Amino acid sequence: SDVCSSDLTGNIKAQDILLTGLEKLEYRGYDSAGIAYFKENGKISIRKTAGKVKDLRAICDDNDATCGIGHTRWATHGGVTNANAHPHKSGSVSLIHNGIIENYHELATTYELEDRLISETDTEVAAALFDKFYDGKNPIEAIKEVIPLLKGSFAFCIMFENRPGVIYAVRNVSPMVAATSKEGSFIASDLTAFIEYSKRYFIVPEYAILTMEADKIDLQDLNGNTIEPEFLEVDWDMTAAQKEGYPTFMLKEINEQPAAINRTIMPRIKDGLPSFEEDGIPDSFFADCSDITIVACGTAMYAGMVGKTLMQDILGIPVTVAIASEFRYERPVITDKSVVIVVSQSGETIDTLEALRLAKTKTNKTLSIVNVKGSSIARESNYVLYTHAGPEIAVASTKAYTVQAAAFYLLTCKLALVQNAMSEADARAFISNLENVSDNIAEVLKLSDKVEQLTKRMLNASHTFFIGRGSDYTLSMEGALKLKEISYIHAEAYAAGELKHGTIALISEGVPVIALATQSHVYNKVISNIREVKARGAYVILLSMDEKITDATICDTHISLPKVPEQFAVFEAVVILQMIAYFTSTGKGLNADQPRNLAKSVTVE
Ligand code: G6P
Repeated sequence: SDVCSSDLTGNIKAQDILLTGLEKLEYRGYDSAGIAYFKENGKISIRKTAGKVKDLRAICDDNDATCGIGHTRWATHGGVTNANAHPHKSGSVSLIHNGIIENYHELATTYELEDRLISETDTEVAAALFDKFYDGKNPIEAIKEVIPLLKGSFAFCIMFENRPGVIYAVRNVSPMVAATSKEGSFIASDLTAFIEYSKRYFIVPEYAILTMEADKIDLQDLNGNTIEPEFLEVDWDMTAAQKEGYPTFMLKEINEQPAAINRTIMPRIKDGLPSFEEDGIPDSFFADCSDITIVACGTAMYAGMVGKTLMQDILGIPVTVAIASEFRYERPVITDKSVVIVVSQSGETIDTLEALRLAKTKTNKTLSIVNVKGSSIARESNYVLYTHAGPEIAVASTKAYTVQAAAFYLLTCKLALVQNAMSEADARAFISNLENVSDNIAEVLKLSDKVEQLTKRMLNASHTFFIGRGSDYTLSMEGALKLKEISYIHAEAYAAGELKHGTIALISEGVPVIALATQSHVYNKVISNIREVKARGAYVILLSMDEKITDATICDTHISLPKVPEQFAVFEAVVILQMIAYFTSTGKGLNADQPRNLAKSVTVE
C-alpha cells in the first residue's frame, strides 16, 4: 500500500492536524483513509474507511488526543475496503505503512500469524510481526528485530499501546520527512502535510529508528548508536500550493508554464550560452560521453523522449529512452562513458530511483532532472539539475513536463558545444530561441477558449488517436496520456506512418484524431497520413504552424500555432494538448486534479 501520513505527537489536538494534513496530501491520489490516536487510558482508537478524507471526517468524533497517526491508502494488496484501510492494529501495535512488504506471505506462514489477520494487506502482517516481537516493555527492541526480516520498501509510523505520546518510525526507500516545532513533532511522507508548522525539517535516514515525542525526536541506528539528523529548510510555503483563483490546480499549473520555464532556464544562461556552473556540473561531464540513456516514468519519460529526439539529432550519438520499471529488469548496456539522465518531478518514484541505483553501478555519470528539492533521486544522482517549477499538485503533470523538456534543451546545447557539434554562433541562436519559449507559450494560452470549444466534439468519444512524426510523435504520446488519465477516454498515440499497418482499422466515422504537423521535413508525409484517416471518416483536429488550412479533405478543425523555429514547436504544441485533455475532463464534469486510480508520487513498484 502507498501512504501519505501526517502524524503529530504534540501539545495541541492531533485529530484536526491529521485530517488537515491528509487533505493537503489528497492530491497524491488515494482510495481509503484512516487515523489512530491515543485515548486517555493509553489505549488506541482507530477510525478508518474506504473513500475520501471527508468520509473519514464524518466518522471521527471530537476528542482531546494530542498524539496520532493518519494515512491515505492507494490499494496494492487487497481491494478498497474498510478492513484494508490503515491504520492496522494487531495486539498492542497500531501502525500505518507506505510501501510493499514483498515477503509478507512467507512471514505470515513462518511466524504463524495467519489466524490473527483480518485484512488482505501486506501491512497487517508487519503489524502482527511487530506485536509478536514486542515484550510489552521495549518497542525499539521489537523494531530492531523485525526490520531485518522485511523485504521490500516501507515507511512505518507505529504506536504501541500504553506508550501514550510516543510514535516510532522507520523507513527503507519509501520517503519520510520529519520536524519538531513549538506545536509538536511531525512526520509525513511529504512536507506539504506539515509545512505550515515548520519549514525546517530533515529527511529520515534509511533504517534509522525514530522515537518521536511532543518536544523531541531521537534517532538511532539498528545497533543503537545515536544519529544526528541533517536539517534542511524549504524555500516555499503553502501559498505556492494553493489555487490562487483558478478552479483547479491543473489549470493553474498549465498557466504557470511561461514563468516556470523562465525559472528553469534563465539562471542557467550566462552571456547567451548555457552554463551549469552553479549546478556544479563540470565540462568534463559533457565531454567524455559516448551515449546517453534517459530513464523515467509517465510524463517524465515523455519529456525524456523530447530530449532524445533533440539530442540524437544535434549530437549524433545514440540516445535511448527507457521505462524505469523495465530498465531495472533488463540488461541495460551502459559503460563508464555512458551518461544516464533520470527524470522525475517528485524525485521519489520508486522505479526511477531503483533504476538510478542500478545505473550507478555502471557509470559515475548520472544526472537527474528533478523538481522537488532534496528528494531521494536528487540526493542519490551524481549531479542534479533542479527544474524550479514550484510545487505541482495536479496528478496529471503539465508544468513539470515543459520544464523537464526545457532542461533537455539546455543540456543538449551544452553537450553540443563541448563536443563541437554546434558552433558558438549557432548555440547563441539556439539559446535565444529557447528564451522566447515562455512568450510563445503565453500566446498559446490565449487560445484556451477555442480549445475548450473544440473539445465539445470529444466529450462523447470512446476512442481517440494522436498522430505525428518525429518530435510530433513524442508529443502525441504525451497528449494521449494526458487525455486518458483525466478524461478516461481511450487515447492512443501512433507514429503517423505506422497507422496503415493496423491501427487505421479502428478509424471509423467521427473518431477524433488529433494530428500534429509542426516538422517541415515530414510535413507532406504527415499530411498524407492525415488524409488517409480523414478519408475514412475521422474527425481531424490539426495542430500546425500554418496560418490557415481551408482544405476540408485535411482537417475539420485547425489550430494555428505561433510560427517558431520548428525545433521549438514542442513547447507550444504540448500546451494545446494539455488544454484539450483539461477541457475534455472538465467538460465531462470530472475532477481533473484527482483522477481515479492514479497517484501523484508512485512510491511502490
Ligand atoms: C505518476 C504521476 C505522473 C508522473 C509519473 C512520474 O504516474 O501521476 O504525473 O509523470 O508518476 O512521476 P515523477 O515524479 O517521477 O515525475
